Amino acid sequence: MLLGHGPIDEAHEEFVEVVSALGDCTQHTALACLQAVESHLLAHFDVEKSWMKKTDFPAMDCHLDEHQKVIDAVQKVNELAAVGQVGLHDVKRLAKALTDWFPGHADYMDSALSAWVNKKTYGGAPVVLRRDLHAAMGHLDTEVQAG
Ligand SMILES: [Fe+2]
Ligand SMILES: [Fe+2]
Repeated sequence: MLLGHGPIDEAHEEFVEVVSALGDCTQHTALACLQAVESHLLAHFDVEKSWMKKTDFPAMDCHLDEHQKVIDAVQKVNELAAVGQVGLHDVKRLAKALTDWFPGHADYMDSALSAWVNKKTYGGAPVVLRRDLHAAMGHLDTEVQAG
């Protein structure tokens, strides 16, 4: 799951830790685990957003939209959990959904970002960049047409 850009890779390692802790949580630790996931995601997505801005990443809107959807889902569950409206089963479902979502996002969007940042910062990985960026831009075009 390592993409070659240190700050993004660190965020991804932490994602795996907090989401697996959520998957293993108990009735007693669920709220704290949910909070840890929310705090992590806010920081993780912030790191990526700041790199997008710093390097003028072309597929920024598409990527940020996907982050927002994930944050919305997590915050919704957190709000309901805080008032006792979701059970452990729902919390585990959220952990499973995040686990299922992550590899596709990392492979597709974060790897394009990582390659782009490395290219802009160190002048590396132009071949990977072109292929991934093309894919990311294709996705963006599809979204624009669909919208
Ligand atoms: Fe990421
Ligand atoms: Fe991302």
